[in-house]
Amino acid sequence: MSDLALAPPAALSVRHVSKSYPVEGDTLTVLQRISLNLARGEFLSIVGASGCGKSTLLRLIAGLDDRYEGEILLDGTAIAGPGLDRGVVFQDHRLFPWLNVHDNVGLGLDTFALARSEREDRIQEQLELVGLASFASAYPHQLSGGMSQRAAIARALVSRPEILLMDEPFGALDSLTRVYLQEELLRIWSERRITAIVVTHDVEEAVFLGDRVAVMEPRPGRIQHIVPVPLPRPRQRADADFTAIKQQISQGLRR
Ligand SMILES: Nc1ncnc2c1ncn2[C@@H]1O[C@H](COP(=O)(O)OP(=O)(O)O)[C@@H](O)[C@H]1O
Ligand SMILES: [Mg+2]
Repeated sequence: MSDLALAPPAALSVRHVSKSYPVEGDTLTVLQRISLNLARGEFLSIVGASGCGKSTLLRLIAGLDDRYEGEILLDGTAIAGPGLDRGVVFQDHRLFPWLNVHDNVGLGLDTFALARSEREDRIQEQLELVGLASFASAYPHQLSGGMSQRAAIARALVSRPEILLMDEPFGALDSLTRVYLQEELLRIWSERRITAIVVTHDVEEAVFLGDRVAVMEPRPGRIQHIVPVPLPRPRQRADADFTAIKQQISQGLRR
């Protein structure tokens, strides 16, 4: 059997996670007792003002920093460092300018010993999934911001992770491209049936995407409350139900 058999989406459990940084001899608590549970295949949005610890939390779940208190479990097993079971997309796409789209996506497979044909199939499959099949030989400077983020999503998914972690993935895009990519992301998520977390400071984006929205507040970063979004997809941003949830979250953020 291949290493890359499509694994079922993972359940994630964040238990009483706290994180602090030493700052000028003092201790700055950035995250305070964060607890979160994601069901398999669930899409969670995390929204909060700048500086409330969203990126820090995502980095911990990604395994990029292991200095914290508490536990982070994927399907009941504590994470240990970064792993191919978790795909990560950052705000800046972080594509290598000297590699074309195909090779940038292929980087996500570099730790796998795969037969060449299987490797090519995987890359092709992801390029098709994100709509970049005809741009395989393009270089990052030839891509728009939206296309670069698609490539970054393909790279994060090519190892067939069980959970996709995204840190303000559309934050640098113009509003039209952003709305379009939000729809594309939901399509990819439902086709891949993956567990997903998106961090954003855009309340509308959070409500459009998430099954639930975790609202964070700063100093120290905490989860203030979690708002379910029981609206069918595709969601209509102008609907009364949609705007009511948006308002409820915005009020929480202003508190
Ligand atoms: N390496 C670090 N050392 C000290 N403080 C840090 C460090 N990284 C982040 N912080 C602080 O942690 C807080 C949360 O940062 P971050 O997770 O980036 O927030 P967000 O992504 O919500 O904007 C901020 O106050 C930031 O200044
Ligand atoms: Mg951030």
